[in-house]
Amino acid sequence: METATSSDFGSALAAVGDIDGWLTDAQARRLWDAARGVPPEGQVVEIGSYRGRSTVVLARATRAPVVAIDPHAGNDRGPQEIEGYAAEAETDHEAFFANLERAGVRDRVRHVRRFSSEAHGAVEGEIELLYVDGAHRYGPARDDIRDWGARVKPHGTLLIHDGFSSVGVTLATLRLLLFSRNFRYAGRTGSLLAYRRERAALLPNVLRQLAELPWFARNLLLKLAIVARLRKGEWPY
Ligand SMILES: C[S@@+](CC[C@H](N)C(=O)[O-])C[C@H]1O[C@@H](n2cnc3c(N)ncnc32)[C@H](O)[C@@H]1O
Repeated sequence: METATSSDFGSALAAVGDIDGWLTDAQARRLWDAARGVPPEGQVVEIGSYRGRSTVVLARATRAPVVAIDPHAGNDRGPQEIEGYAAEAETDHEAFFANLERAGVRDRVRHVRRFSSEAHGAVEGEIELLYVDGAHRYGPARDDIRDWGARVKPHGTLLIHDGFSSVGVTLATLRLLLFSRNFRYAGRTGSLLAYRRERAALLPNVLRQLAELPWFARNLLLKLAIVARLRKGEWPY
């Protein structure tokens, strides 16, 4: 495995500077650090790639193969973009490949153009690093965390975007992971939650996650205020 250096990350960050998406720089760093630890014989799987912002960070950080699952179908595209984006989705699909090409990782990423629930057969073996950032509604988010999470190998990493921020993602996360003894909560960078697939002591694990609820409440209030036009500002990620 190559040695990580901050300048490597700096060039990855520069490579995604013009790519649309909702991943913050600090979250890109967390993705980078997690992917950096994946050996070449491991496997990285991303659910929800959009135009490739997170995909490029992952692929630049590791020599392991990266599988990017995204139907580019015009649903669950981004915050408040649940349905009706078919035209934009085709543009997203083209932009995704153009962005991978420009960042020099086109040949290192295998795109699976399917809904995540229909993509299991297209991915073989265990997953060292799973990044969940697909549909944010409760049902699909739950299925991603449960069914794809089950494929994360022991001591592997599960990262979830929009945790303790999106209601659907948060409810799915709490339902499946709050009392889990198999996934240890390892903290968050903004709304990017990190879990390690390892035996977790129940009480500390529960308390660590419950301690995030005030931040979740703050995000909900912020979003309500933005939607009600009581406040301008950045949608929280
Ligand atoms: C928030 S964006 C992902 C952002 C991306 N990770 C980035 O860093 O720019 C959500 C993406 O999930 C995709 N998506 C929606 N439903 C999906 C599903 N069931 N399975 C996989 N991807 C899905 C959408 O097409 C969209 O591109």
